[in-house]
Amino acid sequence: MKLIGISGSLAGSKTAIAVQETLNIAEKLEDNLKTELIDLRSYEVELVKGYPLEKYNEDTQKVIKTILSADMLVFGTPVYQASISGVLKNLFDHIPQGAFEGKTVGMVTTAGSEKHYLVPEYHLKPIISFLKGTLPTRNVFVHNSCYEETNIITNKDVWKRMETMIEEMIALHKNM
Ligand SMILES: Cc1cc2nc3c(=O)[nH]c(=O)nc-3n(C[C@H](O)[C@H](O)[C@H](O)COP(=O)(O)O)c2cc1C
Repeated sequence: MKLIGISGSLAGSKTAIAVQETLNIAEKLEDNLKTELIDLRSYEVELVKGYPLEKYNEDTQKVIKTILSADMLVFGTPVYQASISGVLKNLFDHIPQGAFEGKTVGMVTTAGSEKHYLVPEYHLKPIISFLKGTLPTRNVFVHNSCYEETNIITNKDVWKRMETMIEEMIALHKNM
């Protein structure tokens, strides 16, 4: 089984840390699992211009092909203006319709305000559903206060939420 995590922030590192932490927990829970983090800071994903995938640069093609090769996906986004980040939306715009069929897709969100905990439900979930991904009932919301100064997550509730979401994703995937 292949689980790919995507961090949809180009600004800070909180989203990447939360997604990586989720992948680490997944590897501990399931022996037969390979994970990989796509941190969008490391790639030059081009803006969607309506071209076929092979017309975009190597990074864009690599990121999309890696996502399409996954059995399970975890999308991480910071909350920006009460929604998902623009880079993550642009990434979704590169993905062919229905491409997440047969894939279990989890959501990890980082935010400065707890008032925005429903952003993944209302802004990320509809995109994943449109692409025919199977979503677990749980998602992981990480408020900035859950990070130490060194940006490590030490909040045990957050770890528990990651574990619960991943357990559900694995169970869903095994029943597909
Ligand atoms: C442009 C911008 C807009 C933001 N808008 C919101 C917002 O509407 N609600 C919120 O809770 N946090 C907002 N934040 C805070 C980020 O979601 C938060 O700091 C997040 O953890 C950053 O993740 P990162 O370190 O991976 O970039 C915003 C941050 C930026 C840079």
